[in-house]
Amino acid sequence: MAHLRLGDIAPNFDATTTDGDINFHEWAGDNWVVFFSHPADFTPVCTTELGRAAALNGEFQKRGVKPICISVDGIDDHHAWAKDIGETQGTALNFPIIADPNKDVAELYDMMHPNADSTHTVRSVFIIDPSKKIRLILTYPASCGRNFDEILRVIDALQLSDEYNIATPVDWKDGDDVIIPPSVKNEEIAAKYPKGYTEVKPYLRTTPAPNR
Ligand code: BEZ
Repeated sequence: MAHLRLGDIAPNFDATTTDGDINFHEWAGDNWVVFFSHPADFTPVCTTELGRAAALNGEFQKRGVKPICISVDGIDDHHAWAKDIGETQGTALNFPIIADPNKDVAELYDMMHPNADSTHTVRSVFIIDPSKKIRLILTYPASCGRNFDEILRVIDALQLSDEYNIATPVDWKDGDDVIIPPSVKNEEIAAKYPKGYTEVKPYLRTTPAPNR
């Protein structure tokens, strides 16, 4: 079992999913990926999360992101549960659920936390970039549904920082001012950040949203 860290290459695996058999890296292709685990099929919190993720399909597509989830149940349960999700959450499931009854992938991604639950995964989230690097890891307990607005927000922040060499401040949302990294010298700012900047402290310099 690997202890995965930011910057690591997301481990590859073959798996059966509700969309057929996949090789994870081939399935991901050149896209960003949100890979998230669910404790179990036919459970209430998970059902709402999958419904929300399905409803956000357009938001994921806009950002070049493919969602995929996993639970340690089998493929027949996944197909039956997918029907329930469509029936109760207002959106048909539109991304794959990985079947992992032997917990092979769950162990590979350190999603089993035995002191929390010895038989089911916790709620893990991995955001993986097109070069297959892990860029964000979140871990929630089974009792607490995730906030998918936060997942979209952090994807926006990662993609913006990759494109413009910026960092994002607390509670940042797309369109807000951003932070010029301390590694950039004041004399380089005009060329790199043409919208100008505000120096709050020498180490805290902001510039308007570069993508607006
Ligand atoms: C749920 O998804 O509702 C859930 C799963 C495992 C434990 C508690 C809640």
